[in-house]
Amino acid sequence: MTTKIVRQFGRPHGVPGRLVGWVMAHRASNLQRSLWVVSLLDVQPTDQVLEVGFGPGLAIAELARRANQGHVYGIDHSDAMVRQTRKRNAAAIRTQRVTLLRTSVDRLPRFDKPLDTIVAVNSLGFWPNPTQQLGELRGLLRPGGHIALASQPRCAGATADTTARAGRELHDRLTQAGFTQARLETLPLAPPVVCVLATNPSEGQDEMPTSASPPPPA
Ligand SMILES: C[S@@+](CC[C@H](N)C(=O)[O-])C[C@H]1O[C@@H](n2cnc3c(N)ncnc32)[C@H](O)[C@@H]1O
Repeated sequence: MTTKIVRQFGRPHGVPGRLVGWVMAHRASNLQRSLWVVSLLDVQPTDQVLEVGFGPGLAIAELARRANQGHVYGIDHSDAMVRQTRKRNAAAIRTQRVTLLRTSVDRLPRFDKPLDTIVAVNSLGFWPNPTQQLGELRGLLRPGGHIALASQPRCAGATADTTARAGRELHDRLTQAGFTQARLETLPLAPPVVCVLATNPSEGQDEMPTSASPPPPA
């Protein structure tokens, strides 16, 4: 039963999937963490932004509000989530400021311009090969572009320690994928949310230190 529910959060589908989408859209902590993650990124009005695994589309709405002369792309492999997020962001889609695609992160589309920012919230844990996909996502970012990966562990009994471990894993994966200047931020919910922000190095900066603020020891 638990496995079935977890699978629904990894790829909501059918009637239970619509319910899972409704829960994610209405849980106060989900809204709070989406707004917080977006607030950590210095999104500019003309930015090109991608969210991977947008679920019910709360962060997409906030990104579109900030990048109001740019473009926000979203990919999610769930039909149910694409439908919900299209409804939630109908006006921005009509005015061609938001494009949503049903695809998996291991089948990335091409984009017209290099991206300024990439975001993923509680999604990476479901990707088939996260380090490889982070490398491919890095290839879509402009030099100096940013990525933010957030995690709020939802497993039973999750604590601040669970969040800290998740933060260290995200940090390590980003570093292995070639991102630099990784730093961790934490939002004190129950359990806390960790967001790891990192940069796609400009050419010739690959040798820069990989971490401005290293994660705490295990
Ligand atoms: C737990 S939900 C989180 C949704 C949203 N980011 C939030 O914080 O409310 C995970 C989302 O990631 C999507 N997802 C999981 N694996 C994916 C993949 N390989 N490619 C694209 N989307 C994926 C799921 O369909 C789901 O919508």
